[in-house]
Amino acid sequence: MAKSRILTGITTTGTPHLGNYVGAIRPAIAASQNQDNLSFYFLADFHALIKCQDPEQVHQSTMEIAATWLALGLDTDNVVFYRQSDIPEIPELCWMLNCMAAKGLMNRAHAYKAAVAANQEAGEDTDYGVTMGLYSYPVLMAADILMFNANKVPVGKDQIQHVEMARDIAARFNHHYGQHFVAPEAVVDDKVAVLQGLDGRKMSKSYGNTIPLFLTEKQLKKHINKIKTNLLEPGEPKDPDSSTVFQIWQAFASEQQTVDMRQAFADGIAWGEAKKQLFELVNGELAEARERYNELLANPAAIEEKLQQGAEKARSFSSPLLAKCRKSVGIRPIG
Ligand code: TRP
Repeated sequence: MAKSRILTGITTTGTPHLGNYVGAIRPAIAASQNQDNLSFYFLADFHALIKCQDPEQVHQSTMEIAATWLALGLDTDNVVFYRQSDIPEIPELCWMLNCMAAKGLMNRAHAYKAAVAANQEAGEDTDYGVTMGLYSYPVLMAADILMFNANKVPVGKDQIQHVEMARDIAARFNHHYGQHFVAPEAVVDDKVAVLQGLDGRKMSKSYGNTIPLFLTEKQLKKHINKIKTNLLEPGEPKDPDSSTVFQIWQAFASEQQTVDMRQAFADGIAWGEAKKQLFELVNGELAEARERYNELLANPAAIEEKLQQGAEKARSFSSPLLAKCRKSVGIRPIG
C-alpha cells in the first residue's frame, strides 16, 4: 500500500514557543515516526514575507525553527524536511494554479476578509494595506500542498478553509488539464492541547504571552513564575481546570502525574510549589533538546546542510510533477 502523505508548513516569522511545541511540533514528529506515513515538513519562508517585512527576522526565524525541529529529534532520513524557497517548482506551480483559481474564491478567504473588515471599521479604503501576497496567500498554500500530492494536511482550525481552497483549485486544474493532483484533506487533532499563555489566553505570539521553547533554565523558571494565578493561599483548595499552571502541566505529564497534580490542587498546593514542579517537568522534557539546539545555532552550516539535503529529496518529487504539469498546460519545447 502506498504511504499516506502528510504535509505541513511552518511560517518563519517567530521563535517557537511551548504552544507550538505541544500543538504542532511534538505531534508532527510523532506522526513522522509512523512507517505508514511519508511526512513532508517545510519552512514556509515565502509565506513569511506576507506578514513580515523585516529581513533579519525572517532569516533568524527560519534558522531557529529549523534548529528546533532538528534538535527535537526529527529524523530527516524518514521525512522530507525542506525550505519552501529552495523548491523553485513551488512558485512556478503557484502561477499555474493562480490561472485556475477563481478570484471570487479568494474574496472569501478569512485572512483577506478580516483585513477588509478592519479597514471598514477604521473608515479606511477596503484595500488599504492589502497586498497581492495576502490576497493570493491561499494559492501559494495550494501549490505547497499539491506539489507533493499530500493526502493529509495537519493544521489549526484557522487553516481548514485554505486546505479546502486547495481542493477546489486542484479539482479545477484536474478537470481542465487531466488528473495531476490528489484532493488533500485537512486534519485537525482535537486531542492536541491548545496551550494557554502567561495571561490565560491562548499562547500566541500576537498576544505577547508566550513561553519560548528553548530558554535557559533560569529564564524558563522566570517565565513559569510569571504565569497568572489567583490569590488563594497555600492550604486552600485550588481549581485545576481553570488554572494555566495545571493546563501546561497536563500537556507534559503522564496520566499518573496528572492525577497526582489534580489531587495536590485539591489539597491546596501552594502556587509557588506547583510552579516549581511545573518547571522541573518541562525542563526535564526539554533539557537535552535545548543542548542540541544551542549546538546547532552555534554551527548554522550544519542546519543549512540538512536543508539542502531536504531540498534535493523534495525536488525528486516536485520536479517530475511540475514537468508533467508544464506539458499539460502547453508549455513545452517547440519542434
Ligand atoms: N499558512 C500556514 C500557517 O500559517 C502555514 C503553511 C504554509 C501551510 N503552507 C502550508 C500549512 C501548507 C499547511 C500546508 O499556519
